[in-house]
Amino acid sequence: MSSHGAPVPMTSHAAGPLAGRAEVPGDKSISHRSLILGALCVGETRISGLLEGQDVLDTAKAMRAFGAEVTDEGGGNWSVHGVGVGGFAEPDQVIDCGNSGTGVRLIMGAMATSPISATFTGDASLNGRPMARVTDPLALFGCQAVGRAGGRLPMTIVGAKDPLPVRYEVPVPSAQVKSAVLLAGLNAPGKTVVIEAEATRDHTERMLSGFGAEITTEETEDGRVITLTGQPELTPQRIDVPRDPSSAAFPVCAALIVPGSDVLVPGIGLNPTRAGLYTTLREMGADLTYENEREEGGEPVADLRARFSPDLTGIEVPPARAASMIDEYPVLSVVASFAAGQTVMHGVKELRVKESDRIDAMASGLRANGVTVEDGPDWWTVTGLGHGNVPGGATCASHLDHRIAMSFLILGMATRQPVTVDDAGPIATSFPIFEPLMTRLGADLRRAAG
Ligand code: S3P
Repeated sequence: MSSHGAPVPMTSHAAGPLAGRAEVPGDKSISHRSLILGALCVGETRISGLLEGQDVLDTAKAMRAFGAEVTDEGGGNWSVHGVGVGGFAEPDQVIDCGNSGTGVRLIMGAMATSPISATFTGDASLNGRPMARVTDPLALFGCQAVGRAGGRLPMTIVGAKDPLPVRYEVPVPSAQVKSAVLLAGLNAPGKTVVIEAEATRDHTERMLSGFGAEITTEETEDGRVITLTGQPELTPQRIDVPRDPSSAAFPVCAALIVPGSDVLVPGIGLNPTRAGLYTTLREMGADLTYENEREEGGEPVADLRARFSPDLTGIEVPPARAASMIDEYPVLSVVASFAAGQTVMHGVKELRVKESDRIDAMASGLRANGVTVEDGPDWWTVTGLGHGNVPGGATCASHLDHRIAMSFLILGMATRQPVTVDDAGPIATSFPIFEPLMTRLGADLRRAAG
């Protein structure tokens, strides 16, 4: 990973038509949860299609440190021999979650109700991100957290010896916070209740149910009320991880903006809590179809077909859709640069506390490449220039953020001048095959010589 190595500058030159099949890797959210839930069962969970990105590899390493036996069997197949709910051992080393907010927050939740302590750290990006959103609710179970000023990593969590169940209204739309509370609730007696005003990705709920926990979700006037009965015996599973809709976004968006393109992205998980980008793109006039719609492992799945879309128009993206496409705004802003008119994105304050401040990172890079962007605390607008009119030519900072790096490389595929990112290294956290996959479709990505 680049945070531990030299930066990898990369330049994206105008691409020929992009064509062919883009087999993107497994879903990052489901991959983290598969390893963590596998570690919380007694017996063997078998996982196929695991995302072997650095974020998930760091979670695999962490699960080993807590006592699970995690084996890479090759070809995306993994085996986890877990220790059971409440069975985590105390790690004898610092847990380094690298770049992954999901990894660290979910693991903190999973260990917070066991009588052990663990110290967590990460790279410069992760160590700058807020953890109080997770440690505040975890304290209600009886655990303690000692970190740096502002609730930042490195941080030690002292797990609760006699955990209490919790009722918690999540104050920010965050699946990581919701999941941390639910995972902590697993080892607390009685019922833990989490209430979220806005629906966020529900993989934890679906998977906990699949592993045999008693968990219900009720839609109420106050939002979704999720109730988990603590101290279940989880049953090991076979998990076939669907391909990641957040990674699929990159070849799909590239096909929409590169003239003549026609790309098929097969087997994409289209859980409604994740698919907001695709609804948005279709509203903008994208030639994007769902083929072979089916259900796999309890998740809706389809093959996405994206073709060059010459008549994209800017739209107002409803704030209620934000949670279902929160990781896709950077690449949406790239597509919006090639649309006619303004694309307005409201209710996206969370973008400021991702791997980078994603509004700031995209706004600066797009402006440097000739696109007009305005932004405020929880909104931004991109004024599209239409196809063939985006200048490009600038170097953009990726700020240790995989999605920022990939978004600017997609931008350069359709700008008049090439676009460079200062460091493509972070792409390995979520989409390690991005460069060969996009190159095979027809992209022209070049690493700096030397
Ligand atoms: C994730 C939740 C989201 C998302 C992240 C993955 C998850 O973060 O941005 O990439 O797997 O739960 P928040 O919970 O902070 O919104």
